[in-house]
Amino acid sequence: MQQKKIALVTGSSSGIGFETSLLLARNGFSTYATMRNLEKSFKIIDITKRDNLPIEVLRLDVTDENSIKGAVNNIIEKEGQIDVVVNNAGYGSTGAVEDFSIDEIKSQFETNFFGVIRVIQSVLPLMRNQKRGTIVNISSIGGRIPFPFSPSYASTKFALEGLSEALQYEVEQFGIKIILIEPGIIKTNFPDNIKRAKKAMDPNSPYGNLLQRRVNKTKNMFVNGTPPEEVAKVILKAVTSQNKEPDLRYVVGSDAKLLLEKRRNMQDREFLRLMSKNIFDSEHMEK
Ligand SMILES: NC(=O)c1ccc[n+]([C@@H]2O[C@H](COP(=O)([O-])OP(=O)(O)OC[C@H]3O[C@@H](n4cnc5c(N)ncnc54)[C@H](OP(=O)(O)O)[C@@H]3O)[C@@H](O)[C@H]2O)c1
Repeated sequence: MQQKKIALVTGSSSGIGFETSLLLARNGFSTYATMRNLEKSFKIIDITKRDNLPIEVLRLDVTDENSIKGAVNNIIEKEGQIDVVVNNAGYGSTGAVEDFSIDEIKSQFETNFFGVIRVIQSVLPLMRNQKRGTIVNISSIGGRIPFPFSPSYASTKFALEGLSEALQYEVEQFGIKIILIEPGIIKTNFPDNIKRAKKAMDPNSPYGNLLQRRVNKTKNMFVNGTPPEEVAKVILKAVTSQNKEPDLRYVVGSDAKLLLEKRRNMQDREFLRLMSKNIFDSEHMEK
């Protein structure tokens, strides 16, 4: 008989977390779809009831240590095991380095980076005892190649990349796998939740013109983004690759794959020029 598998997903109220919770549940994982605001749970609860899925919704805010411990302990008491954790909660930001206050950057790290560490630290003792477990960290192509005017966001995802790779060395001995997912532009609520640095709203900002061009350009990109279901499928494939060892990194979306390929085949400055040309339009580059 196949053993029961338990999954925990953070940020399941929308987008990638929502689709991943549903797909894991549809594929036999008893899934704890966690979110910071339970008022946003009605949609996943409706689908869970309609399709009779093994999903339970729990409150978990990745910036709140107690809420993480509460959710993890709740799962351990009920199930005695956690097999897969998907660290998905996160948000984007825009502005120039000069625009961001240190507090704005710290707050983004609280969610996108320290939030992941908190969850990892709370599940590792159990996973070590089990001698198995898979931790999936949702990074971004922005964690390999920063987009212009996303210095804070890119830094959180670069940090997550470093943490994840370093962590894999430590926990391999306990049978624990770390997986990084690097999506390109995905059609979710992400653009609506992007926080603009307060100083970047100043109409006299010396960066205003370029930033606005970047914002306009990326808005259009999100309209044609990869559906979040595609990211969920890659996560499912990665966590169920039974005989074959999962890769450390999975890039999702043709945009992300193309960017990485270009980066690999170009000198840094050459790549930066190409990126600027695409994001700001050519006139900026020719100066
Ligand atoms: N969309 C993209 O183009 C893209 C590309 C690469 C990587 N990613 C990454 O994918 C992940 C999911 O983003 P998405 O695209 O699905 O965007 P989304 O639709 O905005 O979903 C973000 C999720 O994170 C949750 N969240 C934010 N802060 C939280 C906190 N403190 N505690 C718990 N949950 C929190 C949100 O909850 P609320 O509903 O309460 O706000 C929401 O459920 C993020 O890590 C993002 O960086 C996205």
